[in-house]
Amino acid sequence: MSHKFKNKVAVITGSSRGIGKAIAVELAKEGAKIVLNGRNQQRLDEAREEILKHTENVIDVCCDVSDIDAGKMLIEKAIEAFGQLDILVNNVGVSMRGNVAELKPEVFQSVFSSNLYGTVNPTIPAIPELRKTKGSIVFISSLAGIRGLPGLSAYCSSKMALRAVAESIRIEEHKHKIHVGLIYVGITEIEHNKETIAADGSMKILKDRQKGKVDSTEKVAKTVLKNISKRKFITTLTRIGKVNKYLQPRMPMLVEKIILKNLHKFEEKSQ
Ligand SMILES: NC(=O)c1ccc[n+]([C@@H]2O[C@H](COP(=O)([O-])OP(=O)(O)OC[C@H]3O[C@@H](n4cnc5c(N)ncnc54)[C@H](OP(=O)(O)O)[C@@H]3O)[C@@H](O)[C@H]2O)c1
Repeated sequence: MSHKFKNKVAVITGSSRGIGKAIAVELAKEGAKIVLNGRNQQRLDEAREEILKHTENVIDVCCDVSDIDAGKMLIEKAIEAFGQLDILVNNVGVSMRGNVAELKPEVFQSVFSSNLYGTVNPTIPAIPELRKTKGSIVFISSLAGIRGLPGLSAYCSSKMALRAVAESIRIEEHKHKIHVGLIYVGITEIEHNKETIAADGSMKILKDRQKGKVDSTEKVAKTVLKNISKRKFITTLTRIGKVNKYLQPRMPMLVEKIILKNLHKFEEKSQ
């Protein structure tokens, strides 16, 4: 244990499973006090059991952060339980599949509702609390937030929007010494039966991913903790992510050519 996170109070949105739960587990192992969040109480109960193996300082708040009042309530419950807030990890996010021409416009609304509004709703009430502790706000983005990718327009644009929000807050809160981190996550293992939004707005189950071929949730979580403890701005996971982050601003047309040449791979991954 590094003691950097000892007794720090961390709210992690969307932490009943997947990457959010892994971040909560890693923070709990480091002695942090944990506020779990998700919309399904049963999943939250299961996650809470896991956190209890590492700390008794854990609460769960069952709410949908795409709702303005729920975002506020989540932060209030954290303060009520633990008296302060040191870390907010905005992890909630939903993906989608489908080319723009085939998308129901509601797909954009659902994705932005979770990925952008589900981020700003807890962030706004968290800022006054984070000023007191000179704490951290972390945004969980995706390599899909570096450039627009085929079949992922709503997801890419919602994740790109997080960068603008993060950049604004960094400057606005510079004098209050709030740390803002932005994590570009690569393809990562997913829970069995993870859902995505299909072009017609229905929910579709994603194919399971082969362990070892993608990042583990534990690796992503450890990277998030490193970003927070070093108070870094941008952290990019995976080799392809680092190459893309370098090439995209310098040679966007080359990146487009590479994507066009590999379009079949994107289409396969979209299944
Ligand atoms: N997995 C990847 O390959 C990958 C790659 C790049 C980036 N990311 C990003 O990493 C983050 C986590 O991804 P993941 O794969 O771990 O997702 P996941 O397995 O689907 O988990 C999402 C978590 O968020 C909760 N949740 C969803 N919508 C919510 C809402 N509106 N309010 C409150 N809780 C909500 C879910 O629980 P309930 O459904 O019970 O509410 C669950 O706990 C997302 O932002 C995603 O975009 C993931």
